[in-house]
Amino acid sequence: MKPIIFITRKLDNRVVAPLQEKFNVRMWESESESVPRAVLLKEVAEVDALWTVVSDSVDRELLETGKKLKIVANMAVGYNNVDLDAAREHGVFVTNTPGVLTETTADLAFALLLATARKLIFAESEVRKGNWNSWSPMQYTGMDVSGATIGIIGMGRIGEAVARRAKGFDMRVLYNNRNRKREAEAEHGFEFMELDRLLAEADFVVTLAPHTPETVGLISARELGLMKSTAVLINVSRGGIVDETDLYEALKDGTIWAAGLDVFETEPVPLDNPLLTLPNVTVLPHIGSASIKTRLAMMNLNAQAITAVLEGREPENRIV
Ligand code: GLV
Repeated sequence: MKPIIFITRKLDNRVVAPLQEKFNVRMWESESESVPRAVLLKEVAEVDALWTVVSDSVDRELLETGKKLKIVANMAVGYNNVDLDAAREHGVFVTNTPGVLTETTADLAFALLLATARKLIFAESEVRKGNWNSWSPMQYTGMDVSGATIGIIGMGRIGEAVARRAKGFDMRVLYNNRNRKREAEAEHGFEFMELDRLLAEADFVVTLAPHTPETVGLISARELGLMKSTAVLINVSRGGIVDETDLYEALKDGTIWAAGLDVFETEPVPLDNPLLTLPNVTVLPHIGSASIKTRLAMMNLNAQAITAVLEGREPENRIV
């Protein structure tokens, strides 16, 4: 009997076909609807390996149901959707897909920063709606990115990649991180700074910290209050790191100027999320790593990790 894999999303045949040669592959086929919890629980009870994405909650109940389960391969660099303690207790490997998405995610962070600073999405929609009737000096004006100060919270691989892009825009780069990055400081002139001071000095604040119990609500009313009234906040890591209720208030009353969000506390973002009513918010559907090449590379890492475990080998990129 071939080991069984359940994949929670429809995947490209280039990835599925090689797995099918060795394993019994089951896959949730719908692209418009996420796999229902009841289906996931039923599948996990029978499978040897589970392929998940960021919006699948791999909690204790799921891990307890997976009596034969040997690996959860999470197709993301973040793994806050997986209960690592429960996985450890049940002897289940957990892997992620780091490295391959660094530059792609930094590109998106910078694209969102530029789009928010220069009101690109709003300006584009004005053209399509036929509202661009004259050329007026202060119409559609935004904030300069070149020469401004960027403050990066969470200076991991993606943070450093964003910082390198910022240098190309002649920006002053401030960062806050658990550890100092002395090599990057010496090589590129990045400046380490306490969080409160970084928030007060930066024109653009970019959150790239992982989602952990310590980082939930890291940017709340007090922190937003420290920022400049002309500042722009960009979140491309995880919803919840920025408190959405406090952010809504700060954007509405002019505490800060604008925000660009690729991630939300609840995803897909519900249409009644009040942030969607504000003109000074740019929203994206969690597409940090969404280039064709990068998504294929992430899928290949996931396939390799599952193959290794089902063939009795230690997987790469092991979290647990
Ligand atoms: C996406 O959010 C990831 O963690 O890769």
